[in-house]
Amino acid sequence: MNKQEGYSMTADKIREIISKMTLEEKAAMCSGADFWHTEAVERLGIPASMVSDGPHGLRKQDQEGDHLGVNDSIKAVCFPAGCGTAASFNRELLVKMGEVLGEECQAEGVSVILGPAVNIKRSPLCGRNFEYYSEDPLVASEMAGALIHGVQSKHVGTSIKHFLANNQETRRMSSDSRVDERTLREIYLAAFEGAVKKEKPWTVMCSYNKINGTYAAQNHKYLTEVLRDEWGFDGYVMSDWGAVNSRVEDLKAGLDLEMPTSMGANDKLIVGAVQSGELDESVVDTAVERILNIVFRYEENRDKQAVFDRDQDHEMARKVAEETVVLLKNEGVLPLAENDQIAFIGKYAAKPRYQGGGSSHINSHKVTSAWDIAQAMGNVTYAQGFDDKEDKVDEKLFAEAVEAAGKAKAAVIFAGLPDAFESEGFDREHMAMPSCQNELIRQVSQVQPNTVVVLHNGSPVEMPWAGQVKGILEAYLGGQAVGGAVCDILFGRVNPSGKLPETFPLRLEDNPSYLSYIGEGDMVEYREGIFVGYRYYDKKKMDVLFPFGHGLSYTTFAYANLRTDKEQMKDTDVMKVSVDVTNTGKMTGKEVVQLYVADKESTVIRPVKELRDFVKVELEPGETKTVTFTLDKRAFAYYSVRIHDWHVESGTFDILIGKSSRDIVLTKEVRVESTVELPFVYTTDTIMGDVLKDSRAREIVKDLLKLDIFGGEKPEQETDAASEAISEDMNAAMAKFMPLRGAVSFGGNVSMGDIQAIVDKLNGLA
Ligand code: BGC
Repeated sequence: MNKQEGYSMTADKIREIISKMTLEEKAAMCSGADFWHTEAVERLGIPASMVSDGPHGLRKQDQEGDHLGVNDSIKAVCFPAGCGTAASFNRELLVKMGEVLGEECQAEGVSVILGPAVNIKRSPLCGRNFEYYSEDPLVASEMAGALIHGVQSKHVGTSIKHFLANNQETRRMSSDSRVDERTLREIYLAAFEGAVKKEKPWTVMCSYNKINGTYAAQNHKYLTEVLRDEWGFDGYVMSDWGAVNSRVEDLKAGLDLEMPTSMGANDKLIVGAVQSGELDESVVDTAVERILNIVFRYEENRDKQAVFDRDQDHEMARKVAEETVVLLKNEGVLPLAENDQIAFIGKYAAKPRYQGGGSSHINSHKVTSAWDIAQAMGNVTYAQGFDDKEDKVDEKLFAEAVEAAGKAKAAVIFAGLPDAFESEGFDREHMAMPSCQNELIRQVSQVQPNTVVVLHNGSPVEMPWAGQVKGILEAYLGGQAVGGAVCDILFGRVNPSGKLPETFPLRLEDNPSYLSYIGEGDMVEYREGIFVGYRYYDKKKMDVLFPFGHGLSYTTFAYANLRTDKEQMKDTDVMKVSVDVTNTGKMTGKEVVQLYVADKESTVIRPVKELRDFVKVELEPGETKTVTFTLDKRAFAYYSVRIHDWHVESGTFDILIGKSSRDIVLTKEVRVESTVELPFVYTTDTIMGDVLKDSRAREIVKDLLKLDIFGGEKPEQETDAASEAISEDMNAAMAKFMPLRGAVSFGGNVSMGDIQAIVDKLNGLA
């Protein structure tokens, strides 16, 4: 590609253009010209700029626009959806996929692709989970960052979405996500943070919902204070389609571009607000400058030679799909032998469910099913088994399937969730698969001991049959080339290497958000707080169906020599962690090395462990590679609402290396010292136990300590050393929860004024 490094349109030139624009032209620039374009101003050489969905392919609508994928878009290539690409845990792969998407956009004249979508999978029920990456913010942020990197390397923008706390489809345009500060920081903001800071997406799309009472579109705190002031975002913020509720207030909050067009209605409001003095014109100028920066950044780096080679990109989609498949269970049944008689069963063998419904829906130029590929082998048969239009047992289809299974050496059932179960715009009602499919799996596995289930779904399902089948492959919604990838894995031509980016609970009721999902009316309280996904299941020591990070291979890996470059560090330092991984099996394979950190003793409530990094490595049989991670403060920190910042509590931490969150193979203890002292404000309500945590405070409260309610500490000369130690321990235990003001209530013969004077002295310590 003919790349032009840097951007020639300087800020000064853009400002000069803006100075020549009328107020009306500037207001119009702040909203779409139509469904997919920004406004053009021909007399000033400002071109219209096209944006298109996203995230896992190009949904470019030439004719009539809509935001739910109802009308046709151009023929394009459907890559695996976010649920699957996250399972690859492969950043380099996502960079490559991004490069292909960027190239497609260049060829089609699209300036910004609307994705990636990083919303946390809070509940398995969210209808749009298939587009999202993970229950873990690090995975979401890292995979998104890689995709952004790839797309933007082709001088095409991305729009990381939907900012913020948009974790359900029910009432998505009116719901109010009530989330506490720490949870927002550690989970929901964190999914965006790393990608925004590291990869600088050209645009951010705000979500429809409210966050703690204020619409995302109108939320100055998140659109400006966090996104721009803290994270350094310098592109433009656009609304989700129709998310603008109060145009002038939204503009003030930091929402630059309204999409789609408001047919001029909101432009008039902006003009009126400037004229009446309610809105400073400089706010409009700033928004226009941000939009034009991106418009010209794209325009000046157009690649007129770019081609959208659909067949070539289909092959890339297949490569990506290979790494998104997760081998959940394998009791010696996989890989299948190339020449054995195999029965493919289930509608999705011939018509895979490979994408979800809504705005991400791609008009695929071709789709390859597993049956398309396997037919040529000659030893594979196909029986439909079920239809997914309604959940009904079709006796004839069942009988054919059971008969085919009985005759074969092994049966592979392609099952999962029908289209009607997973889509943008509504949530699932339960976590079950259609019962006719569950019944089919049961019946087939009764006649065929070598039964394998291949699943197509964007989010966890219950598997009542998990114990009755020998193999389970989670193929997610693997894009238009998924059939080839699944076939290659089934027959061992490709070694599976995906890992679950989410926990599969045994049943929906186990999920931490179960009690409060989907809220009451518009009010959605995130009552589980930071305990999302494995953070909850681990803390509760619950059994799960398949844990976060789980995924098997056809080879085996051994881990050794976990080491760090230091035993202890300050929170301003970094620590290098290395581990050796060896392929101890007979097949080349890829392993996702997962690093978790556990805070061993903490005064704040924390998860048992949290994923802090991961690396995917490819190893030949017998080969060993050293994997090295670099951990900084953030790896050990929690978000302190006392200082509104990340904080490490001094102490010991375990560094854990795992094959999954429940299969930790190596552990090493390290120590981290904080360089930040949390401020502590004493009041008359402060309990004595907290006062005595600061050794310097003892002198100030020494007279109170003589009182019985605080343990009745005797002056040193009156007690011998041994009895003092005993009485101090006992007294301290009894007295530590007594507030300082207790001295007034419980006969200490002191006044509230005396206590206040002590409090003032204590506060003077800082
Ligand atoms: C979706 C966005 C999408 C937009 C444009 C909205 O309904 O939430 O993800 O990018 O439509 O199609």
